[in-house]
Amino acid sequence: MAVKINSAFLKGFIQENELSLIAPACELAHNALHSGNGAGNDFLGWLNLPQNYDKSEFARIKESAAKIRANSEVVIVLGIGGSYLGARAVIEAIKGSLYNSTATPQLYFAGNSLSPAYMNEVLSLVKDKEFSVIVVSKSGTTTETALAFRVFKQIIEKRYGEAGAKERIFAITDKSRGTLKTLADEKGYETFVIPDDVGGRYSVLTAVGLLPIAVAGCDIDALMAGAGAAMADTANPDLNCNDCYKYVAVRNILLRKGFAIEMLVSYENSFMMMNEWFKQLFGESEGKDGKGLFPASAIFSTDLHSLGQYIQDGSNIIFETVLWFKETESDFFLENDPGNSDGLNFLSGQNMSNVSEKAFQGTLLAHTEGNTPNIVLELPKPDEFELGYLIYFFEKACAVSGYILGVNPFDQPGVESYKKNMFALLGKPGFEEEKAALLAKLQ
Ligand code: PA5
Repeated sequence: MAVKINSAFLKGFIQENELSLIAPACELAHNALHSGNGAGNDFLGWLNLPQNYDKSEFARIKESAAKIRANSEVVIVLGIGGSYLGARAVIEAIKGSLYNSTATPQLYFAGNSLSPAYMNEVLSLVKDKEFSVIVVSKSGTTTETALAFRVFKQIIEKRYGEAGAKERIFAITDKSRGTLKTLADEKGYETFVIPDDVGGRYSVLTAVGLLPIAVAGCDIDALMAGAGAAMADTANPDLNCNDCYKYVAVRNILLRKGFAIEMLVSYENSFMMMNEWFKQLFGESEGKDGKGLFPASAIFSTDLHSLGQYIQDGSNIIFETVLWFKETESDFFLENDPGNSDGLNFLSGQNMSNVSEKAFQGTLLAHTEGNTPNIVLELPKPDEFELGYLIYFFEKACAVSGYILGVNPFDQPGVESYKKNMFALLGKPGFEEEKAALLAKLQ
């Protein structure tokens, strides 16, 4: 019951003594994190969250989830970035990427883009359906989410009246500040807190992730228990006894050898959104001050038919981190076909998971021979416990890794630049001067 690192496919890329050389840096980073002396130390709430989470709020999350499940055919979850990806990642990993085709309630995510086409599509899903809205925003002012909430709030109030809307709008936001908090208090919405000391991309194990995950029918007790197990297993500063830190060390060594892109690979279609969550976590945490690995992702064997060529034969700037589940939640038996017109009877009489495992092994051998190092992270199976474990494992790895790089893994100053330009171009009051300068540049 854990994430185990398999280093067999790093032979020839990393020597044992390189791990010993980086071990002191790892220990220093661990100490900075655990003593709260490192950069961004006012955002360490996630570190002990599996133990310190608010138990009464947790109970309220379950009650609200039960209420939503009972009165809604469709649930729209509004949020972006850290207020979006984790919930969707866990739900799809547990329930499958096609879960909405059979689920009640169906769960859709919006407020995560500025696409009018997508907005219209999601709006059409609540037409003639009983629905609820979960709005997630720590600041309460994020344009994509606030804009979508404005639209859904109007529809829900029109359909159910002010009193009915109060029963169907759930706000997850700051405990005391922000426009969303003010509105929620004024209207009497049920609210849940994003703790001050937990940043967006580290917030999946707060109400941000837990409410939508519980609404989808996943076991949030098991999720937290898994995170708790990871918290205990990753508490040792010695990387020889801590697979999370071994992973941190290996990816840092590979970065210094010119492998600047880490590609997270899974053999499960349902992990596509986990990949997206991982990319935000590491990209926003490490990518600053001209440093950091570029986080990329792939689903195999699907992407072996698109990216496989590059990974095998292209520039040697990529290493792969492969998530491998030893058991599958549901297998598929391949029957014999007496006609054998497709010539595939050599696959008959076995489970599909075995075919997938051979693809995994064959790919490991091929890609390492093509000079692409492979870190394999082995897990027992994709259930709530193991996902909770994996989430905490990656969060801890990301924080320690950021400290080794010498960056603050808890801020995201670079994200503001596009927003400033967008607001100026849209004529937001207070951005008048910037607008003129930007328009001149666009000529
Ligand atoms: O990780 C982050 O901090 C960001 O991705 C935020 O979560 C995202 O921008 C949404 O912010 P907010 O929750 O304030 O709407």
